[in-house]
Parts: sequence; C-alpha cells; structure tokens
Amino acid sequence: MLKAMKITDSIYWVGAIDWNMRTFHGYATGRGTSYNAYLILDEKITLIDTVKEPFKEELLERISSVIDPSSIDYIISSHVEPDHSGALPFMAAHCPKATIYTSAPQGRKGLLNRYGVLKYEGVKAGDVLKIGKRTLQFLPVPMLHWPDSMVTYCPEEKVLFSNDAFGQHLATTGRFDDENDLPTVMAEAKKYYANILMLYGMQAKKAMQALSPFRIEMILTGHGVSWRKNIPLILNCYEKWASHEVEDRAVIVYDSMWGSTETIAKTIADAFAQKMPVALYDLKKNELSDIVTDVLTSRYLAVGSPTINNQMMPTVAAFLCYLKGLAPKNHKAFAFGSFGWGGQSVQLVETDLHAIGCEICLGKIRIQDKPTQEQLDAIAQQIALL
Ligand code: FEO
Repeated sequence: MLKAMKITDSIYWVGAIDWNMRTFHGYATGRGTSYNAYLILDEKITLIDTVKEPFKEELLERISSVIDPSSIDYIISSHVEPDHSGALPFMAAHCPKATIYTSAPQGRKGLLNRYGVLKYEGVKAGDVLKIGKRTLQFLPVPMLHWPDSMVTYCPEEKVLFSNDAFGQHLATTGRFDDENDLPTVMAEAKKYYANILMLYGMQAKKAMQALSPFRIEMILTGHGVSWRKNIPLILNCYEKWASHEVEDRAVIVYDSMWGSTETIAKTIADAFAQKMPVALYDLKKNELSDIVTDVLTSRYLAVGSPTINNQMMPTVAAFLCYLKGLAPKNHKAFAFGSFGWGGQSVQLVETDLHAIGCEICLGKIRIQDKPTQEQLDAIAQQIALL
C-alpha cells in the first residue's frame, strides 16, 4: 500500500509522482512531475487539492494510510486545471460529507462546467475557514495559472499551500528543496515560470505583494518540491522573473537548410561570446520550452531562418509563435538568414520579433547562398558594436 509522507505533526503529503510524464501540454518535462495533494488533520479533516485523474487510486491509498477517506470534511480545490482537480469527482464519491471549497466565481464555475454538480462552496479573498485549532485563509491569485487559481495560508502552521506558484515539473521522492540538488530545482523552477507564468508577470507581482504580510516558513507547492530552506531565494527569483529582469546574455536560435544560416548563427554566437555568455539553439535539436527559459533572462535574442517556399522555416515560425504567446519583455533582437532567391524569411522573422515586443537592435542580416569570410567578419564587427 502506498504511504502518505509526514510533513508536520498534522500535515501529510498524499499526492502522486508522475515519473514518466514527458510533455505537459507541449512543455517538455524531461524530469517528470508530481501532483501534490496535502491532508491536514485537525477537528475537521481537510484535503488540499487532488491529483491527475489516472493517479486517483494512488491518492486514495496514501490518504487511507493515515485516515479513513470518508472522514474528510473539506476539500480545497485551488485550481480547476485537471492535473489538480482530475480526481475530484472520485474523491467526492469517497468523501460523502466533504464540502469542496473553491474560488468564487471562477473556480466554482470551472468545476461545475467540468465535473457537474458537486458540493461546492465559493470563497473570496480574506475568507477564513476554521478547521479546529487551525484556520485556512484563502487568497485568489488569478492567472497563476488560470483565472480561478487561489492559494491557502495556514497562520498557525505558517504554511502556504501555493498550488502552481513556485512549483516545478520534477519527479522526486525528496519533498523539500533541501532534500534535492538545489541547482536542478532552481533550473526547473525557472523553466516552470518561463513556460507557465511568463505571460502573467503583472499578476505574479500583484500576488507577491498580497503574500508579503504572511509569515511563511513553508511553501507547499502543487508540483515538484516544496520550500522550507530557500524561501527567500525562490521569492526573490519570482520578483525578478515577474519584473522581466534581464542580464547580459545572448541567445541565438536558428534552423538551417544547407548550413549557411548555421554558419551565420555560429559567427553571431562567437562575436557575442567576446563580451557576454551565449547559448546557441538549433531548433531541430532543442525543445522550445528549454529555449524560452533561457530567453526569459537574456538581453539579446537573434533568430535565424533560411527562406523556404517564400516563408521562414516552420520550426522558426513555431518558436516565434510560442514566444509571442508568452509576451516576453525587455529583449533586444534581430533577424538573420541565408537565401537562394527571394529571401523573404529574414523580414518575416524581424516583423515577428517586433510584434513580440522586442526592440530591433540590428538591421536584418541577409546573405545569398554561402556567406564569404568577408561577410562573416562584417557581421562580427556589427555584433561587437552592440
Ligand atoms: Fe498545475 Fe495550472 O495546473
């Protein structure tokens, strides 16, 4: 029988680890993930969130290792997305007396649309649920990650149940930051922010402000590891990411047909490397979710494509489409590429970079056929002047 993991005298982790998940609606999750749910034992027994539907039996087993699931009084649904709510109807059936607390009106509406009528109770900012010696304070954090998202604070435990915020797609049995390799946890936290929350920087800043009065000694996340030793570190990173702070770093992203655009990309990378760190991404060999993670904090972005059928390469179009959706800010960018005839791709890339909100910091680099050494030297000189 699967067991719950004790977190404090009264809080247990009862979630599921998804070791083999490799894509989360297109976000490449090479290290898997977890769907974290928590059980609070007090006069009223409370379950914070459920898990993705295929893992519902695991959730039930872990809960059953601590208490009889039918004794659960309250279920808090922090977020309607099915990775957290998928097992809700199943749990409602096993917890006949449980009331489901969700944000009003968005959470209530979302759950009703998805799962039909269950015993929902809508809560708003500042609403408090007394569960015995402890209380649960609800705080909506809209768009972290959906309009319905909310977090729950327990002042007696100084614990924040943060759901998607501060999480990572990371499968591990170490439940806390200090039980895992911190650089790996931080890399996954940044990747999570970049791919899930970059678009909502303004809402993230508002949420951080709303959380600031709380004294938090533990952040129990909805995915990956939770925080107890490095809380200031993750809060500071969220402040920086939400403020779209960038550093002197260049990201060069390209696809190439016969090697000429790749030669230009490598020349650009080498020129930038004389003055700042650089990363070079061939779109045929890298995941978009890794590239946008690097873009989040990099000042410079160069995007290259040859022309194919009067267009940019579809891989480049996909990258620009994904990046546009994430609404990055504070980046300086330019377009480059080779062509045989026509050569429309570079203008198309530059137009997209402008539409994304980048400042175009260098004129288009367009080279017919194979670049000469003189042309490559001229490109390097232009980069040196940026
Ligand atoms: Fe982890 Fe937005 O769901």
